[in-house]
Amino acid sequence: MSRIDDLLSRMTLDEKIGQLVMQALGAGTIVTGPGAATDSSVDDVRQGRIGSILNLVGRDRILALQKIAVEETRLGIPLLVGLDVIHGYLTDAPVPLAETAAFRPDLWEETARMAAEEAAEDGVHLTFAPMLDLARDPRWGRMVEGPGEDPYVGRVMAAAKTAGFQGRDLTDPLSIGATAKHFVAYGAVNAGREYASVEVSDRTLHEFYLPAFKAAVDAGTVAIMPAFHDIAGRPMSGDKALLTGLVRDTWGFDGIYVSDYDAIGELVAHGVAADMAEAAAIGLEAGMDIDMMSAAYREGLKPAIERGLVSVDLLDATVRRVLAVKERLGLFDNPYARGTIAVARPRQERRALVRAVGAASCVLLKNDDAVLPLAPTGGRIALIGPFATTKREMIGAWYGLGDREEAVTIEAGVRAGFPHREVVVVEGVSGLGTETDGIAEAVAAAGEADLVLLAVGEAAELSGEAASRVRPGFTGRQAELVSAVIATGKPVVILLVCGRPLIETEAFAAAAAVLVIWHPGSEGGAAVAEVLSGRRPPSGKLPVSWPSHLGQVPIFYAQRNTGRPYAEGEFFVTKYVDASNEPLYPFGYGLSYTTFELGEPIVEATRFKPGETVNVTVRLANTGPVSADTTVFLFSHDCVASTARPILELKRFQTVTLAAGEETFLHFDLEPADFECLGPDLVPRAEPGDFVLSVGFSADRRLVKTVRVTLGD
Ligand code: BGC
Repeated sequence: MSRIDDLLSRMTLDEKIGQLVMQALGAGTIVTGPGAATDSSVDDVRQGRIGSILNLVGRDRILALQKIAVEETRLGIPLLVGLDVIHGYLTDAPVPLAETAAFRPDLWEETARMAAEEAAEDGVHLTFAPMLDLARDPRWGRMVEGPGEDPYVGRVMAAAKTAGFQGRDLTDPLSIGATAKHFVAYGAVNAGREYASVEVSDRTLHEFYLPAFKAAVDAGTVAIMPAFHDIAGRPMSGDKALLTGLVRDTWGFDGIYVSDYDAIGELVAHGVAADMAEAAAIGLEAGMDIDMMSAAYREGLKPAIERGLVSVDLLDATVRRVLAVKERLGLFDNPYARGTIAVARPRQERRALVRAVGAASCVLLKNDDAVLPLAPTGGRIALIGPFATTKREMIGAWYGLGDREEAVTIEAGVRAGFPHREVVVVEGVSGLGTETDGIAEAVAAAGEADLVLLAVGEAAELSGEAASRVRPGFTGRQAELVSAVIATGKPVVILLVCGRPLIETEAFAAAAAVLVIWHPGSEGGAAVAEVLSGRRPPSGKLPVSWPSHLGQVPIFYAQRNTGRPYAEGEFFVTKYVDASNEPLYPFGYGLSYTTFELGEPIVEATRFKPGETVNVTVRLANTGPVSADTTVFLFSHDCVASTARPILELKRFQTVTLAAGEETFLHFDLEPADFECLGPDLVPRAEPGDFVLSVGFSADRRLVKTVRVTLGD
């Protein structure tokens, strides 16, 4: 008899239910949702009423609880320990949206690996990451946690992060399980308002939102977390068709669904369950394995079984999956492995990694008169703005244990990076406050300097969960600070601290340069200084379209042509009468200190048959003065199809380093699946006809270079 069969045959109903309950308990718990995290006690662990815990930090506390589970419960089943290890545990990489801007899957994987090691050392088994919610609307604060707007990028991110967290062997004590979240289309909440309902077509769901989750399943993710919202009245925690029908039965997902915080219990608030017993029954029927923090399974599952709403067979099948994951993670054989193993990677190496990623994530939007890079010697620099000195803004949302005290501020980075320049620091205003008294001092400092670095943007707590904004722009009184400093006439370099595009079109127009630094991580200030000095030229590319006006959102590059495509000077075409359709900066945009040139794309043959690969080659040259990285994107357009296709769909990207004057040829292999679209029945198929393949440095359609290929027999 297998271990799991044996255990199941000996478990009481309460013990079975306990395996599906995930609770936060005890001192040292991070609070990430509403309600008391303390209505459970250690005794619940001892009695087998809790099978997993979340958000507890500190190896001693975790190991102590694990010891109780293993040695004092009747069956000795180990606990599963989950935590939000989102962009780091001790050593924080930039926030996920920023990291995406690096377009470096190798780094995406490496930072996840490092986070897994640090978390595992502290006793964590499972992270609630990666967050794979694509987002087209910067009002939504959780855009910061995801991979931006593109489904292909989402897929690559899913694979890289899952591989990084889980490693090659999940029983390796330095590997932790991944949780692909939040399933699915959470980024589409109405009007960008957190937790709101979602309206999304089946096509958009399948083409746009689901593929990243499919990629996570293909990469072997241990868990998936369904989101809080409902799609057209179907809350995700009760969506049997998607959770079980599609993901389990069709895709072959063999891991566990971990609910979002209280989400099964919230089926009552949604209005689809009358009480906790009904909520529990709906959740279990849908396929939800673990109930995080609600009373549904804890209090409702037993009555649900007694009332005949769900069967014990279904409960058994669910418990079996949870035990299987514990087994997959090696917890039965070595419950204390994580928490007692030390990370071999030296601290210096970890800091160097997040510094490199921090620098690679910076996106240069504007650089008039080559004001950047800054020379090592020269006149005085005024570093102005509330985020010049704050550690919190370097780290951003979801910092795990992230040692904020060790975060390198912009001030520290700039002072260390420019030892031969005088640097004067004035905050001017705070990130959120209403005081404006400090603006005069900031203006005076600007007036006496040769150049101003303006560290402004969005306070860290204003992006992330429950942080939707109707005006995604400078917070507090920063807008006044920015105007006053710009009015001095000194060259101003905006260092934009943010977790989403901030719509500050006028300020950007008035500044000499704009460098988006996001929340750049533990080594943030040092990374930014390296970019400013040119030690690492900027190479980040926007993972989202950057709106010029709030009225343009939701905004994304993969638009369809429409029946009345925009044409200059025409009236009855798709347009706004008071602004351009185009974003301020397109997806993929980002300047460098050098210039790159792309040749025409070349294909071996312009006709190809179903099942054949298409190879695209393009010459890339660094025509400027310095060695730098850049990213080349390859898009495809299916010209005539049974359903109108977007004009650009990303199929590949490559990030390469080229020395000044160097040139190379990039090769892209497009597989048969790259030419498929979903037919009217939502089944993938390749439809014969023409495809336009475009290569470019961004999704700016005016600048891409194209070649037409034909799929035929
Ligand atoms: C968030 C999740 C997170 C969970 C546990 C929830 O509020 O939506 O992303 O994993 O809390 O902390």
